[in-house]
Amino acid sequence: MKVGQQVAATPATARRLPLPPGPKGHPILGVMPEFNRDTLGFIERCRQYGDVVRSRFLYVYAYFLYNPQDIETLLATNARSYRKSGSLRSPFFRRLVGNGLVTSEGDFWRRQRRLAQPAFHRQRISSYGDVMVEYAKRAISQWQDGELHDLSRDMNRLTLAIVVKTLFNSDISKDADHVGQILSQIVKPFASQATLKWILDNRLPTPAHRRYFKMVSEIDRIVFRIIGERRASGVDEGDLLSMLLAAQDEDGSQMTDAQLRDEVMTLFLAGHETTALSLSWSWYLLATHPEVEQKFHRELAEVLGGRAPEVADLPRLTYTDMIARETMRLYPPAYAVGREAIEDTEIAGFRVPKGSQLFAFQWATQRDERFFDDPSEFKPERWTSEQMQQIHKYAYFPFGGGPRQCIGNYFAMMEIVLVLATIGQRYRFSMESDQAVEVLPVLSLRPKAGIRVKVHER
Ligand code: HEM
Repeated sequence: MKVGQQVAATPATARRLPLPPGPKGHPILGVMPEFNRDTLGFIERCRQYGDVVRSRFLYVYAYFLYNPQDIETLLATNARSYRKSGSLRSPFFRRLVGNGLVTSEGDFWRRQRRLAQPAFHRQRISSYGDVMVEYAKRAISQWQDGELHDLSRDMNRLTLAIVVKTLFNSDISKDADHVGQILSQIVKPFASQATLKWILDNRLPTPAHRRYFKMVSEIDRIVFRIIGERRASGVDEGDLLSMLLAAQDEDGSQMTDAQLRDEVMTLFLAGHETTALSLSWSWYLLATHPEVEQKFHRELAEVLGGRAPEVADLPRLTYTDMIARETMRLYPPAYAVGREAIEDTEIAGFRVPKGSQLFAFQWATQRDERFFDDPSEFKPERWTSEQMQQIHKYAYFPFGGGPRQCIGNYFAMMEIVLVLATIGQRYRFSMESDQAVEVLPVLSLRPKAGIRVKVHER
């Protein structure tokens, strides 16, 4: 065993260890220009230096980890030496999600996670299955054979509607739709800029910046009003907000309005785009792999025989589930997870000074030929239960891992499988012919110009 793979050295011992190798980059900017120019290519090229690579972005040192064991050390085994990465503390982002589950730390985060966890238990989540199917049916109800669609836009609308409905049940759906609309405006600038540029630019008081703060204030007003009305009525609407409102800690304490607001905004944001991307990439891969598509259709016919899917069908929609997993291997919606060292520590026998930023890339490790045969091939068959046993837990981590693992992973998997099954029974898609689908790594891994398809009724 290499030093540090399971048990981390003390800060004092860590200081005596060597630093990992890596590219030098520009004397002032470091590797930032190259990273911003071609993020995914840069991440892949850095692997030539080894499994742990160190590079500099201006004055910030970043470590890239490529090996599942080291990723496990970062996210799970030695998680206590790290906190979330610095970029999440940007005031711009903070104004939107506050101190919610994605951004909070330490005891505060632990309490919030404890309070929110019951809302995401499998059983509770199951009750949202009908909403997912109903909304998927509604989304396609007007589709016509031969129409052209940008599926990434359609899927985004659909998952936004689903998260709005599952967070706030129907009674306030008008307000909720309004929040949804403002939110889709808010996240627009996130789409057009590289992450680092985005963080730097948005510190400046530009008109877009002011508009952003105004929109967030408007959402605040609506969300606080919904919370106030819900507290006053005391009715359990069966939605996520009701669960969060009712959640009590061991000492009987509950979330304040401000905490509820932050969690609601966090779930809104974390809960829809990632799922929409998994769906969009799944349709893309199905449209370009006819043999997989045929097997998918065969399963739908066998399990559902033309009727709409239900939660109870999930255990038998195994191939659809495998398609979802394999899509997230090739096109992980979150293509990186980041942490910052809060003390001098070590990883794989290398020194990690306090303040270093560390990244694990789903994009790189999940396409590494050391961990997957034919890594660039779309092969859902690799996710049969026997084959899954062979894969290192941290060679595949679309939902992260360790204590900060995605709280919505069952929610997301259920949504993806039910939506694929609902739409896949009625329609199949062919790619518009002139289209080269390119990936755009912004905060998530998006198709640069959407997924433009022709719709075919089945
Ligand atoms: C395919 C869909 C999804 C993907 C790929 C995804 C991915 C992730 C990843 C990688 C993390 C960990 C980030 C880190 O460790 O720094 C995370 C955390 C989180 N996700 Fe998801 N997610 C998805 C869907 C959802 C959904 C549907 C929800 C809620 C409805 C959600 C809510 C959250 C929250 C609240 C956290 C923070 C958890 C914590 O730190 O305690 N996610 N997600």
